[in-house]
Amino acid sequence: MLEPLAHIGRDPRTGGYLRDAWSPADLELREWFAGEAARRGLDLREDRNGNLWAWWGDPSPSRPGVVTGSHLDSVRQGGAYDGPLGVVSAFAALDVLRERGVQPSVPVGVACFTDEEGARFGVPCVGSRLLTGVLAPERALGLTDDEGDTLADVLRKAGRDPDALGRDDETLRGVGVFVELHVEQGRGLVTEGRPVGVARAIWPHGRWRFDFRGRADHAGTTRLADRDDPMMPFARLVLAAREEAERLGVVATVGKVRVSPGNANAIPGLVSAWLDARGPGERAVRELVAALTGGAAVHEESWTPEVRFDAALRDRLARVAGGGEPVPILPTGAGHDAGILAAAGVPSAMLFVRNPTGVSHSPQEHAERADCEAGVVALADVLEDLCR
Ligand code: GLV
Ligand code: MN
Ligand code: MN
Ligand code: MN
Repeated sequence: MLEPLAHIGRDPRTGGYLRDAWSPADLELREWFAGEAARRGLDLREDRNGNLWAWWGDPSPSRPGVVTGSHLDSVRQGGAYDGPLGVVSAFAALDVLRERGVQPSVPVGVACFTDEEGARFGVPCVGSRLLTGVLAPERALGLTDDEGDTLADVLRKAGRDPDALGRDDETLRGVGVFVELHVEQGRGLVTEGRPVGVARAIWPHGRWRFDFRGRADHAGTTRLADRDDPMMPFARLVLAAREEAERLGVVATVGKVRVSPGNANAIPGLVSAWLDARGPGERAVRELVAALTGGAAVHEESWTPEVRFDAALRDRLARVAGGGEPVPILPTGAGHDAGILAAAGVPSAMLFVRNPTGVSHSPQEHAERADCEAGVVALADVLEDLCR
């Protein structure tokens, strides 16, 4: 089922994926989702925030559904599994339930959340944050991409109504429980020697933009003593982030930088750098960012507190997914829509599928076919248990 998606948004030079939210590739993936829903006779709905839902049955507040799914957008030069594996496995697990002749006592849904990665507009999990109301629609609509287009412009171009955005209680009340399957983005399951695991918690994490302003000037004629070069404090930021992260036991990454105006023969006037920081404790992450502000205007683009998944649900999943022997329970440094829903009070859980190298957010991301199949069977077992 992943094969028909393999060409969509793929960079032929690298094999990586470019699936920004609302890009032509993303729209093609959404078409694919609609087609899979139709083939199965599922009722396709798009909520106010662009998230897609394919329902087997009709959820209501008195009969909320069991929902599974993930996202189809990618980071830039991302892998084939982060996101799509969870959506494909959701449809496949639903097929397994039907083959088994399961008659669910509650509706079963497949969800595809919009703009999970935040690759285009900077804020991750836009679809689930809007749905649950932790991201204000006014702020979302004003977010801009690298071309200077706002989310509002982009939605209008995609034929969506920007005014519709916002907390969506009607949709939320239809979700009784959410289970997201995801390729593991680390080597925990390799160490455990098991194909499938369950999530314990998501580290607190955030993104900050540092704007270093200086004075653009000629690279040849400006004496060193006369320069106001924003590259200098930027360079110190990168090194300090690494040192502070080591000191505090967290991780910090500067993975995106914009140099303006971007001439090889001119001192830049502005350097914007994006810091991603995460760790097992919120205090340490905050302390890291506070230690780094030297000389820059700092904008917090997103913050996600620690999420601990519902322990009873997590243990139930670990038991059911493991058959006889409960599967391993793992923490993760990666953010997910399941974490946003959990924080909003929707009982949520995650299944991870082994990743032999642990590499993710890279074309090298991988999962073996047999492990993906084990993931589908585990997910089907879990859904069957939850929808009885
Ligand atoms: C998304 O995958 C994130 O955790 O950054
Ligand atoms: Mn990701
Ligand atoms: Mn993901
Ligand atoms: Mn993610």
